[in-house]
Amino acid sequence: MGSDRLIIFDTTLRDGEQSPGASMTRDEKVRIARQLERLRVDVIEAGFAAASNGDFESVQAIARTVKDATVCSLSRANDRDIARSAEALKDAQRARIHTFIATSPLHMEKKLRMSPEEVLEQAKRSVRFARNLLDDIEFSAEDGYRSDPDFLCRVIEAVINEGASTINIPDTVGYGIPELYGNFIKNLRERVPNADKAIWSVHCHNDLGMAVANSLAGVKIGGARQVECTINGLGERAGNCALEEVVMAVKTRRDHFGLDINIATEHIVASSRMVSQITGFVVQPNKAVVGANAFAHASGIHQDGVLKARDTYEIMRAEDVGWSANKIVLGKLSGRNAFKQRLQELGVELDSEAAINTAFAAFKELADRKSEIFDEDILALVQEGSKTPEDVFQFVSLQQHSETGEPSRAEVVFQHEGREIKASAQGNGPVDACFKAIESQVNSGAEMLLFSINAISGSTESQGEVAVRLQRAGRVVNGVGADPDVIVASAKAYLNALNRLYGQPESVSAQEAGAI
Ligand code: KIV
Ligand code: ZN
Repeated sequence: MGSDRLIIFDTTLRDGEQSPGASMTRDEKVRIARQLERLRVDVIEAGFAAASNGDFESVQAIARTVKDATVCSLSRANDRDIARSAEALKDAQRARIHTFIATSPLHMEKKLRMSPEEVLEQAKRSVRFARNLLDDIEFSAEDGYRSDPDFLCRVIEAVINEGASTINIPDTVGYGIPELYGNFIKNLRERVPNADKAIWSVHCHNDLGMAVANSLAGVKIGGARQVECTINGLGERAGNCALEEVVMAVKTRRDHFGLDINIATEHIVASSRMVSQITGFVVQPNKAVVGANAFAHASGIHQDGVLKARDTYEIMRAEDVGWSANKIVLGKLSGRNAFKQRLQELGVELDSEAAINTAFAAFKELADRKSEIFDEDILALVQEGSKTPEDVFQFVSLQQHSETGEPSRAEVVFQHEGREIKASAQGNGPVDACFKAIESQVNSGAEMLLFSINAISGSTESQGEVAVRLQRAGRVVNGVGADPDVIVASAKAYLNALNRLYGQPESVSAQEAGAI
């Protein structure tokens, strides 16, 4: 493939959702899909239609919404899954069925309990079946990197003959080393006789912290022209290849890669924030490209250098990935129009004038308590507002008292299905007291797996953004909450997690459905 274009395939909504607690509602997935379209990704893997009715509906809703990107649905290599994907994708402008089967000796023997010949036959049959339903078919050899190259060559040649137009070689368990993975792809491409009839794709997990490096090696050494990745590197275990990193590497080092990408990089930061706020997976401050410190030059020497000439210490411009506008602040006196314009610039689409009015009222209330409103505040506020009225638990108010050497005391008022409940408790610090108060009434019995507080925009006047991860009966959920008062933000996050725990799971990840 002599192409000098790199296809960006985003799988935040499918592989990203496989992170514990990252499951998203259909509306949240549609919001993210719209943002991915704004970001101009080439392919959006919207989900795994056969996993559950909720997943089917999410893929369908995204297929009906997205106009510019190809919408893709994952399917195991069987007729039922593939037919379900095709049905969910029926209304898409451009649709792709992605079918996969494991090809490594370990997976074939222990997981599938199939012989290599049976796997080969099933792969061929599935691609043939899919090709009768749609033109654009991707085939993935799960655990491809740990597969026997001779066998893999036979499978790939056969599925290309059956009509697969994209061949993806996942490093499913993140075992690869850049040079080795790159050469693995190169070797396959050289040996498969009809290799030039398909686009080759890389899909790397980050277990050894090398997902981005391996993907780039697959492109540079191996000649792959599609990278599968997720926003913020979201994904199970150590995550997937991070979209923002791979995109900025190819763009910043065009001298080395010589490839074009279609991504509108100025939407990267807004995309990162949206995914982190919806899933509750906070971005570490020193994360490349999208971390809060990624462009902060704290040391005097660096600041001096950057002031004299930016490129002394900056290889990318912050504004090129969407940071610049963050400096512009709105305040108490900003009007509805300025607020609305800022929403548009941030890529936030509220579906009615009434929704804008509600968000504006929340903005005014926040501006009374906080003199400068940053973009992060606006995004957090919109995310808070997007919690649906059907949420069974809603925060109302909170009082707490803390004194050195004494247990803290909190009284939390919240609504449960419209009924107001007052709960109070003592605890080891105000957050603990607040959670114990809520638990004293809800009795969820959930185990807390994670609690984190992040200052949204730096200073002490910043809003606190809290993420809470709860587990009960094998189900893991994340809740997020934001408020200038971190104890209030904590209560909101806890109630948000309870809403997810008690709500019907709209989607079941491929993994929860037992498919992967
Ligand atoms: O990691 C993997 O192997 C996958 C495939 C299903 C594409 O996600
Ligand atoms: Zn994967």
